[in-house]
Amino acid sequence: MTPDAAAPTDLTGKTCIVTGANGGIGLSICDHFAALGAQVLATDVDDRFAGMDATYQPFDLLDAEGLQAAQDWITKAEPDVMFNNAALFDMGSVLQADLVQFDRLFGVNVRAFYALMQASAQSMIAKGKQGSIINMASQAGHRGEALVAHYCATKAAVISYTQSAALALAPHKIRVNAISPGVIDTPMWKTVDGLFAKFEGKEIGQKKREVGEAVPLGYMGSPEDVARVAVFLASQQSSYMTAQTIGVDGGNVLR
Ligand SMILES: NC(=O)c1ccc[n+]([C@@H]2O[C@H](COP(=O)([O-])OP(=O)(O)OC[C@H]3O[C@@H](n4cnc5c(N)ncnc54)[C@H](O)[C@@H]3O)[C@@H](O)[C@H]2O)c1
Repeated sequence: MTPDAAAPTDLTGKTCIVTGANGGIGLSICDHFAALGAQVLATDVDDRFAGMDATYQPFDLLDAEGLQAAQDWITKAEPDVMFNNAALFDMGSVLQADLVQFDRLFGVNVRAFYALMQASAQSMIAKGKQGSIINMASQAGHRGEALVAHYCATKAAVISYTQSAALALAPHKIRVNAISPGVIDTPMWKTVDGLFAKFEGKEIGQKKREVGEAVPLGYMGSPEDVARVAVFLASQQSSYMTAQTIGVDGGNVLR
């Protein structure tokens, strides 16, 4: 049997939603989906979109009205693919990280993530679409960290919801998977590196250098490394995969 060359990664005719679209990974995902023929609908909190080849609509997912408007926007869009990517990072141990930080991180990374996944799933069922939902987890979701209590917990929640959603949506042939990046060189790392400098007394740039060198492959990943896996999960190439969390981490987490 010859490999199916027609199905592989083509997204022509597919409507793909991307949240956190102005971020390092989000921008690359938008580019990759558009290059494969998808109609990309992008959203982030900023007024303007930094990329190209996407229809952009801003929503603040921490704001109740903004979140409801984003849910309505998704329902109207009738997506085939949902790339559920927006998130906030912050640091603190369980002795320091307060409930204000809890509400912000869980508000975007879990509450809004859940609401938008649900809106996508409901639309796919209503329109009879055998879609693909891709959630952004993290290596932080597989193991707690002393100084990163809330963020790790939000990403563990993403992995759990991915499994529950995949099982609930399997009868509708809607697939739900997650990606767990390791350390990816994006603007988020300016924040992460600055926070580690504060919490661990490091020089600016030191933590980023150290985490890159500690990866078994020896360097930080790029947004494109993540985008290629997102393309795989969005496309028919992964048609028999659901409820999985795929590591894109250079070998950091052994499953
Ligand atoms: N960069 C890494 O090393 C890494 C590692 C593991 C997981 N991740 C995950 O990958 C995803 C993308 O990360 P990134 O590195 O591109 O980060 P990023 O900070 O560049 O992108 C995240 C985006 O989410 C958006 N966002 C945050 N709060 C929002 C709100 N209230 N409303 C709407 N949008 C909001 C931000 O504006 C930003 O554009 C995130 O889920 C992150 O947790 C990143």
